[in-house]
Amino acid sequence: MSANVSALGGKANRKAIVARTLRWWDRHRRALVWRAAPREAPDPYRVWLSEVLLQQTTAQAAAPYYQAFIAKWPRVEDLAAAPIEAVVSAFAGLGYYSRARNLHACAQEIARLGGRFPSEEAELRALPGVGVYTAAAIAAIAFGRQTAPVDGNIARIMARLLALDEPIARARGKIEAAARMLAPGRRAGDFAQALMDIGATICRPRNPDCPSCPLARDCGAFRTGSPEAYPRRLGAKARPRREGAVFFARRSDGAFLARRRPGHGLLASTVELPGTPWTSAGRQGELADVGPVTASWRRLPGTVEQVFTHFALTLTVYAGSFEGRAPDGHFWVTPEAVGEAGFSSAMRKAVEHALRRG
Ligand code: ADE
Repeated sequence: MSANVSALGGKANRKAIVARTLRWWDRHRRALVWRAAPREAPDPYRVWLSEVLLQQTTAQAAAPYYQAFIAKWPRVEDLAAAPIEAVVSAFAGLGYYSRARNLHACAQEIARLGGRFPSEEAELRALPGVGVYTAAAIAAIAFGRQTAPVDGNIARIMARLLALDEPIARARGKIEAAARMLAPGRRAGDFAQALMDIGATICRPRNPDCPSCPLARDCGAFRTGSPEAYPRRLGAKARPRREGAVFFARRSDGAFLARRRPGHGLLASTVELPGTPWTSAGRQGELADVGPVTASWRRLPGTVEQVFTHFALTLTVYAGSFEGRAPDGHFWVTPEAVGEAGFSSAMRKAVEHALRRG
């Protein structure tokens, strides 16, 4: 028998939980770059941008991206007017490239609406790249709406508060109901962000710091004495493996050949080292024949590993010397420009591997 939302107690108890959480937030909130200062009105553009950049990553990883975006495009109209390649390049390394395209499309739609974001969750959800979670987060944080964004951290907190015996994926209904029941009419954005901070800094997946947690006395998982045993885990997902090879064709001045991927599909529009397709079928044919130019290719020791949502990739890197014109569809990148060239995370790793080992 699994617990359910009645574990949160009556209205008075839920109010006490909210009050403890907000008191903790007022003292311990993280000073994150996208956050409005206490009592400063939040800017919906900044809230939206931060939430999109934070999808699937940590505050620490997202912060430099956020700062670069705001420096380049301080207003939503600036982002809307930017070329898509610049947006994809600024996004490169964050992982999911359809998000960069949606980010740009959303900015254009907001610019068409006169630069103002809607405050209703349903209207927010209709925007490109804005899902249920992001719409609720913007509505709560930017507009103070009484709503309950549930990201991975908040789902974990709810699963522990309720000591749910099912894995999160099977208990979405209960988790969302619990979050909705707690969402306060006042300071809904502060409450949501407090839960995000508690999830990131205290109620961590491993080694939670329960003695510092304002919710410990309310927490079913804490009461069991094994908070880390919650949320219950699904069996680990097995990912198929794909393999490929990339070619690091270096000129005597240090520049190397790169190309841009097509504008659709995996890692669309990002820059990459030329290479083979990634397949699970094993290696086929002579690799030297598929290099971008004729060179004496040397296989570098080690491999580059990257995990994507649906597969794990192993890349072998070949290095060779080449002088002359870049072949069609290719261009030269200098080692100093690697950071701004628009490489995906996987290709950044491959370039760094080649620079270290080549
Ligand atoms: N993760 C997602 N959104 C966040 C936010 N606004 N603050 C901190 N962490 C977050």
